[in-house]
Amino acid sequence: MSRETRWPVPRTLASSILAAAAALLLWAYAPGDLPRTHAMLLGLSLGAAIASVLLGLLLQLGTAWLVLSAIATPALVMVPIFQPPLWIFPAIVVVLAGFYINGVREQVPLYLSNSRTQAELAAFAAQQKAGIFIDLGCGLGSVVAAVARQNPSIHVTGVETAPLSYLIAWLRMKLFSRGNAEIVFRSIWQTDVREADIVYAFLSPAPMTRLYAKLKAEMKPGSVFISNSFAVPGDEPDDIIRIDDSRQTQLLIWRM
Ligand SMILES: C[S@@+](CC[C@H](N)C(=O)[O-])C[C@H]1O[C@@H](n2cnc3c(N)ncnc32)[C@H](O)[C@@H]1O
Repeated sequence: MSRETRWPVPRTLASSILAAAAALLLWAYAPGDLPRTHAMLLGLSLGAAIASVLLGLLLQLGTAWLVLSAIATPALVMVPIFQPPLWIFPAIVVVLAGFYINGVREQVPLYLSNSRTQAELAAFAAQQKAGIFIDLGCGLGSVVAAVARQNPSIHVTGVETAPLSYLIAWLRMKLFSRGNAEIVFRSIWQTDVREADIVYAFLSPAPMTRLYAKLKAEMKPGSVFISNSFAVPGDEPDDIIRIDDSRQTQLLIWRM
């Protein structure tokens, strides 16, 4: 099981704000001989970013939230000092929302299956002789690209509703796919999975009960649902693939 926790947004805010506040206090109140140079400010911002990640680890934040905190904290340190134009703030919010909107809407933020997991999924799809593979919430399209590249005879679809993640995944497939992969701007809940041989999801604990009910009702007999890390309450998987990576990934498999 991965290191994900409830209420990640307030925890991320807390770790970033505390670390940035400490850096700003140091900048404001350190003895006068602390050089107030750009290099010192850069050092303080980096220190604050590291401190926010350490705090985030203590608060059991998942990787995507730690990354977000590491990016946001230096901005929090520099903004009061440089006082940039006001438009920068909504611009930052729009960019972050473009990737992380589903963290708020569905309690499913963006984090990515690693390359070992992608390779395992591609091999599994080949071994199952799958014809159609769907990644529900495909993020930046890494799984879609890997499965499609290694299995030219499988049609791979990724669905995604975070606008910037979708755009990157879509562009990636347009530029590099051999034609057996597509990215669709569509919600998981509106996705037709009746023809799929394999459905893959790497989401969070929040949607698992509802998702499993949908897949159970719609997927055809003999097809397979794979959840990266997140269990279905009350329904044990038929199989588990254990990957010996740094997070000890488990691919939980249900045969429909
Ligand atoms: C943890 S990421 C996994 C990305 C990718 N599947 C991978 O394994 O690398 C989950 C993704 O699901 C997307 N997502 C969450 N809820 C969704 C929904 N209802 N419809 C479409 N995408 C959704 C999020 O925006 C996020 O990009």
